[in-house]
Amino acid sequence: MVKIRHWTLPNGFKAHVSENDLKLVEEDLSEDLQQGEVLLESVYLSVDPYMRIHGDPIGPHKTMFGEACLKVIKTRNGEFPLGTLVLANSGWRSHYLSKDGKDLRSIPYDLGSLSPSVSLGVLGMPGLTAYFGLRILEPKAGEICVVNGAAGAVGSLVGQLAKQKGLTVIGFAGSDEKCNWLTNDLKFDYAFNYKKISLEDAFKKAAPKGVDVFFDNVGGDFFHEMVTKHMAHNGRVSICGSISNYNDTEKHKFPQINMDILFHELTIRGFMVYSFEKEFDTAFNDMVPLVKKGELKFKETLFEGFEQMPAAFVGLFKGENTGKAIVKAGNYP
Ligand SMILES: NC(=O)c1ccc[n+]([C@@H]2O[C@H](COP(=O)([O-])OP(=O)(O)OC[C@H]3O[C@@H](n4cnc5c(N)ncnc54)[C@H](OP(=O)(O)O)[C@@H]3O)[C@@H](O)[C@H]2O)c1
Repeated sequence: MVKIRHWTLPNGFKAHVSENDLKLVEEDLSEDLQQGEVLLESVYLSVDPYMRIHGDPIGPHKTMFGEACLKVIKTRNGEFPLGTLVLANSGWRSHYLSKDGKDLRSIPYDLGSLSPSVSLGVLGMPGLTAYFGLRILEPKAGEICVVNGAAGAVGSLVGQLAKQKGLTVIGFAGSDEKCNWLTNDLKFDYAFNYKKISLEDAFKKAAPKGVDVFFDNVGGDFFHEMVTKHMAHNGRVSICGSISNYNDTEKHKFPQINMDILFHELTIRGFMVYSFEKEFDTAFNDMVPLVKKGELKFKETLFEGFEQMPAAFVGLFKGENTGKAIVKAGNYP
């Protein structure tokens, strides 16, 4: 028997996410596998803001959903020998039993000396989000790009990719330490602590003539003020996320923004990263060499131990992570 632990969400999230909303459940799983079955142990697990708002918990215990990087610890499936590393949407589980391996995916590039954790971050879903969310903005050299949530998993990559295309990059993040990382290490042109400075004052200095492309991770008041006051004529906005609203219990009535969109002839586009799935290989072909050469930098905030899943997740809404938040639950190799 192997002891399986999983984090469950028995009654949904209360208004503001709390570690108390999640319960740890333990079960025994037989190690006598059937032909085709694969038993895996989670090595790295992802916590992401979307887990607050999308998807239903899985199975009778209402296990939290999510992606993990796992290693094969027992197998009766020739495609997945012992020790193989794979990705799966296996949820917040310490172990996972795949019935036939069809729900397991290989990491689609050679890791080289990179940690497998990158497959959940810079070279995983968040990296792809930055790549495609920036691409739809059709950024051009010489333009001004703004990204909020700038020191997070997605935002930190958006700014660097925009710099590589010759844009002036302005990031907004929630601490001076994060802002220093953005300007000193990632070479953003400007980084502002949105808790200390108004957008008005930040743009007087950094973009007095307006912003051409805006990558929005935060939504809410930030989005509203950008669209009504700080976009340049023909500006483009990509709506990636709206983390400032994920804990809201009431629907907001937005003040009118349509005339601002009209007069400035703005383009505003929402996107979901998985709509670009057919092009993921192209993105990896571009990004993997950049990461390996150190030209696309990244940070991971690692939480040690499977029991840290709730703390890691709740921390996303308190700004506790810099770069990608990941839980390390096992060892590889
Ligand atoms: N469209 C898609 O397909 C797609 C895919 C992936 C992610 N997303 C979205 O992209 C956004 C960023 O995701 P991520 O994975 O990169 O997360 P992340 O930025 O690594 O983590 C969340 C960060 O958001 C900031 N934050 C939290 N609450 C906030 C608030 N009320 N106001 C302003 N900032 C707040 C915090 O940083 P500070 O310290 O700076 O406040 C926190 O560290 C999220 O909105 C997510 O839902 C969308």
